[in-house]
Amino acid sequence: MEKTGTPSPHAIAMREEKRRAAAAMGIDDHYVSELVDRFYDKIRADAVLGPIFAERISDWGPHLDQMKRFWRSILFSSGEYLGRPMPKHLAIPGLDKPLFARWLDLFAATLAEIGGGDAAAHVHERARMIANSFLNGIAIHHHGQLGLREGEGFA
Ligand code: HEM
Repeated sequence: MEKTGTPSPHAIAMREEKRRAAAAMGIDDHYVSELVDRFYDKIRADAVLGPIFAERISDWGPHLDQMKRFWRSILFSSGEYLGRPMPKHLAIPGLDKPLFARWLDLFAATLAEIGGGDAAAHVHERARMIANSFLNGIAIHHHGQLGLREGEGFA
């Protein structure tokens, strides 16, 4: 695990390969920037999701920059985003599957606008997986880990 700001030659090679594979699909810095700007325009205009963000974000410039770093980290392993999104989402009451579905619908609508078949499918799949992992994290936070504990039987 790379903890410092000095990536190993192997990490650098992996990043370059990821960037190359993404670029071959048309996913580059410009694509990420366009995606994030347009997506949060839709979020802010959304009657349900807009107010949830408005309550927590007063200065959108830094948030958009942060989300661009996040997506570059996801899509290019750029290592630029070092935050922990889970606690931020756990702190929002009432985040449930329908809200995540709405979030993902707006994300898909943005991808459809900016085009690029393979790129859109790839980025959408990453977003869906992350949304699911947040949803699972929220469920575990509220209800605990599923599974039988020591001494528990099926009866
Ligand atoms: C219903 C769904 C969602 C809602 C309402 C939501 C809302 C928010 C809000 C209000 C913040 C700002 C929190 C703060 O600064 O206090 C935030 C941050 C963030 N969100 Fe979401 N979000 C949702 C889903 C997602 C998904 C699916 C992803 C990833 C694919 C995502 C990634 C992030 C990241 C990376 C941050 C920055 C966290 C940090 O400060 O490091 N969110 N979200």
